[in-house]
Amino acid sequence: MTGSPRVHPPVTVLGIGGYVPGVRVTNADLQRRLDTTDQWITQRTGVRVRYHCAPGESTGDLAVEAGRRALRHADRTAVDAVVVATTTPDHPSPATAPAVAKRLGLGTVPAFDVQAVCSGFLYAASIATSFVRSGWASTVLVVGADAFSSILDPTDRTTAVIFGDGAGAAVIGRDGVVDELGWGTFHLGSDGDAADWITVPGGGSRARSLPGQEFGEFFRMAGSKVFQAAVDAMTSSCRSALRAEGWRASDVDHVVGHQANIRILRAVAHLLDVPESRVVVHLDRVGNTSAASIPLALTAASPRFRAGDKILLTAFGGGTTWGAATLVWPSRLSATTVLGDNDE
Ligand code: COA
Repeated sequence: MTGSPRVHPPVTVLGIGGYVPGVRVTNADLQRRLDTTDQWITQRTGVRVRYHCAPGESTGDLAVEAGRRALRHADRTAVDAVVVATTTPDHPSPATAPAVAKRLGLGTVPAFDVQAVCSGFLYAASIATSFVRSGWASTVLVVGADAFSSILDPTDRTTAVIFGDGAGAAVIGRDGVVDELGWGTFHLGSDGDAADWITVPGGGSRARSLPGQEFGEFFRMAGSKVFQAAVDAMTSSCRSALRAEGWRASDVDHVVGHQANIRILRAVAHLLDVPESRVVVHLDRVGNTSAASIPLALTAASPRFRAGDKILLTAFGGGTTWGAATLVWPSRLSATTVLGDNDE
């Protein structure tokens, strides 16, 4: 899906918020139980610490907290719809979004989940923006939330070191005042031929859960194939979004990319010819939080964004799926305090 420069009715970000759970897992902790080292993890991925849910805590709990923070930041107590992007829903069925909406006091608004793994937030934000552009809704709460600790194989050093749990949220809608700043182009894509590169094979209708059977319900990732594909797809979708929006790479003030691996972010910046200093790096503090990764990075970096800054967002995830979007930082967010990560 692409758009053209300056023809979009203004749809913006009215508030953002982020949350990570309380169980802190450092590289030193992982080094004690896996065949890995702090040095390998830091140099090959950039991750230093990640957070896991406490026993009994779920994706929905994280989504509610991030959603509450974004609603408070937006100064809203009602929205027209709730979209939760997640790969680790509270249950295979029903979706997590209706319970999140109800727990946030949002009543009986339409609420549904989107499953695009690490690209989930961009997919969900594009849906919300389209809802608002079409006039069907005036505000939508979008939450990217994942608890990958619930699907990680604790003995798999290639995935356990990267992923963490978290949630990030944005209230997307029209501003009361006329505001020319906000979402521009979304460019999304997928390739089902590579579906088995990032997968939880068991538990669905193809590999059914049967008593006494090995389900294969742990997350698996073909890391090096994914690495190269992520660099290629994020770079080309960024180029498409830039072209559609009429921006040059040198116009971009901040790149907010999916926080999977510092080397992927650097490679994409290099190929786009954007200085590394403009790339938001948040993965060192929370790891790869899948659908939460982009809104958590946005939330954490927001104190240094100025009204009118041009932001390029991009992601790659299971499916495979990918995307890029352009966002001009709205003035209303520049003067407000954002609650993210472990802020009280
Ligand atoms: N500690 C120490 N060694 C490790 C390790 C770890 N945690 N994980 C892998 N290794 C080893 C491998 O076994 C391999 O050893 P070998 O050469 O003896 O076979 C070596 O390191 C290199 O493995 P490789 O898989 O090529 O490493 P890498 O540099 O590609 O890093 C990932 C692995 C997973 C960190 C990296 O591929 C990655 O980030 N992939 C993309 C993730 C992503 O973008 N996901 C997006 C959607 S979620």
